[in-house]
Amino acid sequence: MDHSPAPDAPILFFDSGLGGLTVLGPTRALLPTAPIVYAADYAGLPYGEKSNEELAARVPALLGRLVERYQPRLAVIACNTASTIALTHVRAALDLPIVGTVPAIKPAAALTKSGVIGVLGTEATVRQPYVDDLSAQFASDKTVLRHGSPALVAAAEAKLNGRPVDTDEAAERAIAGLRDQPGGDAMDVIVLACTHFPLLQDELQAAAGADVRLIDGAAGIARRIAHLTEGQPWPAEVAPGIAVFTRSDDRPPPPPAALAPYGIGRIETI
Ligand code: DGL
Repeated sequence: MDHSPAPDAPILFFDSGLGGLTVLGPTRALLPTAPIVYAADYAGLPYGEKSNEELAARVPALLGRLVERYQPRLAVIACNTASTIALTHVRAALDLPIVGTVPAIKPAAALTKSGVIGVLGTEATVRQPYVDDLSAQFASDKTVLRHGSPALVAAAEAKLNGRPVDTDEAAERAIAGLRDQPGGDAMDVIVLACTHFPLLQDELQAAAGADVRLIDGAAGIARRIAHLTEGQPWPAEVAPGIAVFTRSDDRPPPPPAALAPYGIGRIETI
């Protein structure tokens, strides 16, 4: 039996909002003609303030609808919060390869010289036992500081949606949330453990200072997607991608110009 997907079968990216675009970017660089569906759960944003129970039910159900509608060859949960809480549930519910997003604690532990690492994520992500396990497995001889910043998620969304927002202030507060903890002065690596945060890379780097390395998992996820789809057929030419947003009265989809740099040419709502 031939398991090869049709050339136009898309890769589905999923996030609560626009953070997953930071994973889509490096993936398109590796697989330029890959058909793309980018799904954002605007009706559920922000995930970082939801309970584990709510996300463990919501994410697999929504991904199930999206998979039925777009028939992707592979789905990427381009969201740390959804991955750390719901990845196992999604894999159990759906019969296609699922790539998750894991806080980059392992590479951070290899990079730090001072032995102090910061993990910046959503409030939900930083409290997960999954982060305890990663720290115990890869950074047991390091100090791992954690801080959850819903304000950074809101600032990244506002920035891409063209709404006025003080992104510098949001970044400074988030970095202070790590640095003001015991040992924080020595922190030399920060893991951006929320896919929204690289959208504020410059602001966060300025707030952290040039001596601090900011790292995220996007390039590694892109390589993983390329590896899992190796040898599969792709379209000969690039076609515009689709972005799909869950319908929300308070949060309309972003302007097309915000998505165009990511190869998105059509916006839908469900
Ligand atoms: N982008 C998401 C993450 O990586 C979460 C943002 C949110 O909805 O709170 O964790």
